[in-house]
Amino acid sequence: MIQPTGVALIGSGSASPDAVLTNDHLAEMVETEDEWIQTRTGIAQRRLAGPELGVRHLAAQAGERAIAAANLTPPDIDLIILATSSPDDLFGSAAQVQAELGANRAAAFDITAACSGFLVGLITASQFIRTGVYQNILLVGADVLSRWTDWSDRRTCILFGDGAGAVVLQASATDNLLGFDLHSDGRMNDCLTLAYAPEAKVLHGDLQISQGRYQPIQMNGREVYRFAVKRVPEVISKALFRADLTAADLDWLLLHQANQRIIEAVAERLKILPERALSNLAQYGNTSAASIPLALDEAVRAGQVKPGHLIAASGFGAGLTWGAAVFRWGRSD
Ligand code: UT7
Repeated sequence: MIQPTGVALIGSGSASPDAVLTNDHLAEMVETEDEWIQTRTGIAQRRLAGPELGVRHLAAQAGERAIAAANLTPPDIDLIILATSSPDDLFGSAAQVQAELGANRAAAFDITAACSGFLVGLITASQFIRTGVYQNILLVGADVLSRWTDWSDRRTCILFGDGAGAVVLQASATDNLLGFDLHSDGRMNDCLTLAYAPEAKVLHGDLQISQGRYQPIQMNGREVYRFAVKRVPEVISKALFRADLTAADLDWLLLHQANQRIIEAVAERLKILPERALSNLAQYGNTSAASIPLALDEAVRAGQVKPGHLIAASGFGAGLTWGAAVFRWGRSD
């Protein structure tokens, strides 16, 4: 009989391209300067993928490291979830990652939820574990938004970088995923888009179809900023409430890395000390679905995040979508 079971996050990994684009480089490309970017966003540089490096490569590298950190091998993985909005193949890149890893037993599918993708993936993965269907799940957040950035638009091109981060979730007698909450508001979709623009094409007689193109990222930065600073503290408070915990119990705040000012404003609203808020924005910029697991993996490897630590993670972005999860790092049994 299938037994409902708990969820543990037992290993992390990450990967990023070697090439670095600094703020000074950007200042040679558009009308901006290092000081403006650092003060308004906290970003100093970002890593960018060249034409040879696909989302599937970064995702597989991060996944391989997470599987090794979990003391597993690729054939142990039952399911791979790839959160990405920039797949190498619009039909999905999760199966490409499965093949790269040699995780031959695993089912694999993509989730598209922009910068909330990792959070949505975490909650999706946990359902498969809770119902007892799967034991080991690899969740990867990976994006190469440099492909879809308008590099002549100074309001957006300063923000984004490429990368991947991954965690392994495992069935566990003790449940370490303690609370979550997810939201969407499609009425605000226009605030942040990477939209398909239709172009009419006459196919046969008077039958028309659309064969257009995806347009580069467009963002109303001020609206998204306001949305994040209001909704993220709310959603974290809700997830904490469901976990029967308060912000004072947290060891770490782990937000989607979009803007240092957002991280600090959310920490302040929740009365969390700024040094408890993990941040690697300065080095990577906003890596979309990758940003939360990339920051987590760096903190785990640096010995900041330790087994048993209590973390509130929150993703927010295009859709608009937002969500939070409260979990303890590692296994407890
Ligand atoms: O991952 C998805 C989630 N995305 C986000 O969370 C992004 C949220 N938004 C933000 O992080 C901020 O809104 C930005 C960093 C994008 C912009 O910062 P801001 O403080 O909101 O600036 P603003 O858009 O209000 O622009 C202020 C001024 C404007 O000039 P005027 O109109 O006041 O004369 C802009 O034209 O700064 C100007 N500006 C720039 N100046 C130098 C905009 N971009 C730049 C730039 N360099 N790169």
